[in-house]
Amino acid sequence: MHIIIAKDKQDLGKKAAETVGMLLKKSPKANICLPTGNTPLPLYKELRNTFTNAEFTYIALDEYLGLDKHDPHCFSNWLAREILDPLDIPAKKRLLIDPSAAEADSEAKRHEKKITEQGGIDIAVLGLGHNGHIGFNEPGSAFKSPTRKVKLADRTRKANAAYWGGDINKVPHSAITLGLDILSSARQTILLVSGKDKADILQKSLAGPVAEDIPATYLQNMENVVVIADEDAASKLTQSR
Ligand code: PGA
Repeated sequence: MHIIIAKDKQDLGKKAAETVGMLLKKSPKANICLPTGNTPLPLYKELRNTFTNAEFTYIALDEYLGLDKHDPHCFSNWLAREILDPLDIPAKKRLLIDPSAAEADSEAKRHEKKITEQGGIDIAVLGLGHNGHIGFNEPGSAFKSPTRKVKLADRTRKANAAYWGGDINKVPHSAITLGLDILSSARQTILLVSGKDKADILQKSLAGPVAEDIPATYLQNMENVVVIADEDAASKLTQSR
């Protein structure tokens, strides 16, 4: 595991863009998973300003259930606004999850099958939840879990309420997430973490016991992981090393 420490959020964006840019230079047609959230925003800003000729295929990491696919809260629409539209990624190169699927389990299976048919995940760019979730793999998710429908933890819904004007009642209760099994097969993983409030969970994820109650600990068993954290998020990591 390689750990890169950035000065602050902006520097994290730069360092992440360098790392992603380098990988995409080597494999321009890579299949890449991209996260939503506050942490990757500086990365997307950097890529919008510097990246040209994007040829990658975007793979949805997770998606809410129970929304219309045109709802601006859908992760696919959020990512379209932040990065996919600005980089002109065509619709056929966006492997999305349908948030309005009536049969969530078959939609999850369809998504995972499609990824496998496309050759699997080359690059998984991920964020880290306060409870150690990866995608929407909440605590207790098996390391071998498939892509599936999940119930969102209250803490996750609370954190995401900010996107609904602070009203937790509007946040969906369920979602589809890539499972830890397919995420473990990514050829390269990049974990982005920023902020003091993530220092504890980052330390536990990288240096604590590997256990399913902190899903992100699966990363300890993987090769080709780059963690890019700002000094605030890495503060407990450096103390314990
Ligand atoms: P954040 O979300 O970047 O907004 O903190 C991370 C996550 O919950 O995966």
